[in-house]
Amino acid sequence: MAKKHTIDTIKAAKNSEKLVMITAYDALFAKLFSPLVDMILVGDSLNMIFAAKPDTLSASMEQMLYHTQAVCAGAPESFTIFDMPYGSYTNKKDALKNAIRVYQESYADAVKLEGGKEKCHIVSHLTKNGIAVMGHIGLLPQHVRGAGGYKVANNKDKLIEDAKALEDAGVFAIILEGVKADIAKDITASVEVPVIGIGAGKDVDGQVLVWSDMLGFFEDFKPKFVKRYLNGAKLVKEAVAAYAQEVKNGRFPTKDYSY
Ligand code: KIV
Ligand code: NA
Repeated sequence: MAKKHTIDTIKAAKNSEKLVMITAYDALFAKLFSPLVDMILVGDSLNMIFAAKPDTLSASMEQMLYHTQAVCAGAPESFTIFDMPYGSYTNKKDALKNAIRVYQESYADAVKLEGGKEKCHIVSHLTKNGIAVMGHIGLLPQHVRGAGGYKVANNKDKLIEDAKALEDAGVFAIILEGVKADIAKDITASVEVPVIGIGAGKDVDGQVLVWSDMLGFFEDFKPKFVKRYLNGAKLVKEAVAAYAQEVKNGRFPTKDYSY
């Protein structure tokens, strides 16, 4: 991307181009992704992928800040979004205190939080205080235990109501996760801010994928919506196996790699 996005250019993209978003959790990969995508999300999915926890619920502000600082250091020219961890925005006061921490302790451009209408008093408190907020509706990973699993959300009227309420509360974009494509299309048409889909079909304003899923590094399971653009796990295993074998049989290092 030629120039770093702002919330205005992101909003303006709605009717002209699809928005490309990917997660990143560290400086190394953020730097690789940055010139190729519109936005980077430091998702709390890192709790599962980088910390091997069963869900996102135990991610902390400290953990998210550490990874966001790393991503921003690696990709200062990328529009970067901080995923507010579970428990960090249960009321207006805590949400603002934690969002201010994000702006003061990292270079994140925006925060994201999960929830619809029921979270709008919190969203508008943040936006009124100068915080850029991205919404997240549909399947809510932070509700996995309370909802008894990862539930695809298909209540169209409720989702449209949620999207409109978030727009009124001042979000600059909305993530829509795990929703049937035809419903996602109607939700997308119901608001003027971009709707970024994940498992929500093609008739949305952009897509987001978790980097380790789309590059094939995460092998435990593959949700239907994940397309693997690389077989990362296979490449890594072959390369490390070759290294191990060459060390064992004395073929590495040769003179070329010795002082
Ligand atoms: O944490 C995350 O990676 C996310 C995306 C899946 C939207 O919230
Ligand atoms: Na998340």
